[in-house]
Amino acid sequence: MVRPLIAGNWKMNGTHRSLDLVRDVVSGLASLEDKADCLVCPPATLLGQVSQIAGESRLVTGGQDCHAEESGAHTGDIAAEMIADMGATYVIIGHSERRSDHGESDAIVAAKAEAAFRADLVPIICVGETLEEREADKTIDVISSQLKNSIPDSAANQTFVVAYEPVWAIGTGKVATPGQVAEVHDEIRKQLSQRFGSHGDERPLLYGGSMKPGNAAELLALENVNGGLIGGASLKAEDFLAIYAACVSNL
Ligand code: 13P
Repeated sequence: MVRPLIAGNWKMNGTHRSLDLVRDVVSGLASLEDKADCLVCPPATLLGQVSQIAGESRLVTGGQDCHAEESGAHTGDIAAEMIADMGATYVIIGHSERRSDHGESDAIVAAKAEAAFRADLVPIICVGETLEEREADKTIDVISSQLKNSIPDSAANQTFVVAYEPVWAIGTGKVATPGQVAEVHDEIRKQLSQRFGSHGDERPLLYGGSMKPGNAAELLALENVNGGLIGGASLKAEDFLAIYAACVSNL
């Protein structure tokens, strides 16, 4: 069985005042069953402090993006090695907001995944279709092409996670139906299996897009949904912990 992962993506939210949220998550997690991994990805400005608070608890931390190179003249960018140096173990790669706001292509995402492997970080590689693509019946084609081109061949020997985040469901309150999620997740599992064999069968597949305490249980109960990548609801300890609780109570 794939060990599930509940991951919070804070996006561009949080100042030092948000550290209480991390303390609340750490203490809440201690009373929940240890049957899933729990991750928060705060803004880079807080990553060191959040990692320190997480300390030896079950909470682990990650970055929201990294540059493909290890160092150099890239003002404002952050290398995977720097994220690891902050005590993080994961990094989100290819989020649709990076793809659209920063023009990140699949090739860039694949290079960033290589950077994550180089720095011993686990990349969470995001894929997802826009509303226009879904309405044109192109969802599976878009996902297939993103999987093929954003996941480098070197992933065959590396730990990685895939997140399916339909762009139209992110931050909109519109959650994909269990049927829509199952169709895409089953396809992702099939393609990872074909490409990577049993290694592909063992990769956690996360759903992201308006996941909340009220809809988490039915999505997390789907066979090929092994956790969630949570935006808005990860900014409230109570909601984030309720999603974690829904995940472990399914097992
Ligand atoms: P929301 O949960 O706010 O829809 O965001 C999802 C997401 O983009 C997580 O990476």
